[in-house]
Amino acid sequence: MGKLVICDHPLIQHKLTFIRDVRTNTKDFRELVDEVASLMAYEITREVPLETVKVQTPVAEMDGKILAGRMLGLIPILRAGLGMLDGILKLIPAAKVGHVGLFRDPETLQPVEYYTKLPTDVTERELIVIDPMLATGGSAIAAIDVLKKRGCTQIKMMNLIAAPEGVKAVQEAHPDVDIYVAALDEKLDDHGYIVPGLGDAGDRLFGTK
Ligand code: PRP
Ligand code: URA
Repeated sequence: MGKLVICDHPLIQHKLTFIRDVRTNTKDFRELVDEVASLMAYEITREVPLETVKVQTPVAEMDGKILAGRMLGLIPILRAGLGMLDGILKLIPAAKVGHVGLFRDPETLQPVEYYTKLPTDVTERELIVIDPMLATGGSAIAAIDVLKKRGCTQIKMMNLIAAPEGVKAVQEAHPDVDIYVAALDEKLDDHGYIVPGLGDAGDRLFGTK
């Protein structure tokens, strides 16, 4: 079973409260999501392996540490996942980016795939699928399915807010995938919205409502 990590750093929790606030305007919402994504990137890369290299400082030679092993790839689920992308790239600028376009049919709540474009070396990378909301889990499961069909094996999931229903669904469908969230909320409402959540992440990020 994949682990669920709640990133409860005080800065993340503080900013998340303003993200949730219905009075927060589009500009502030976008900036806060960007900042929280950066802070979560710090948490999700905590276990990335290091290797030792020689470095010459102005004073002496020493053993320095640099990132080792497989390179990273970021997979935002369009469109709301884009809101977290730049914040993560600030910390991991060498990551390549693949896009998976999915929207949730408002009647059936089933994900509909409309676009996929992945780096050519995607199977060699450790991937982080990013999306602010993990509600029923349908979109996340579908995005991970797309990656696994292409042969990807190292996948983590990063969300701002998850519902217990979505976490359970992803853990059952993809037990090898660890999930990093800023908050685990109470439940889904009858329309599949997370309660208390933050509303529609895509609409709030892009001002479409
Ligand atoms: C939202 C959100 C997730 C999905 C979560 O996207 O960004 O992708 O819903 O719901 P689920 O866990 O029940 O699948 P939406 O379908 O609204 O599309 P958008 O990002 O284009 O706004
Ligand atoms: N998608 C959103 O944007 N918000 C929710 O609460 C659920 C799905």
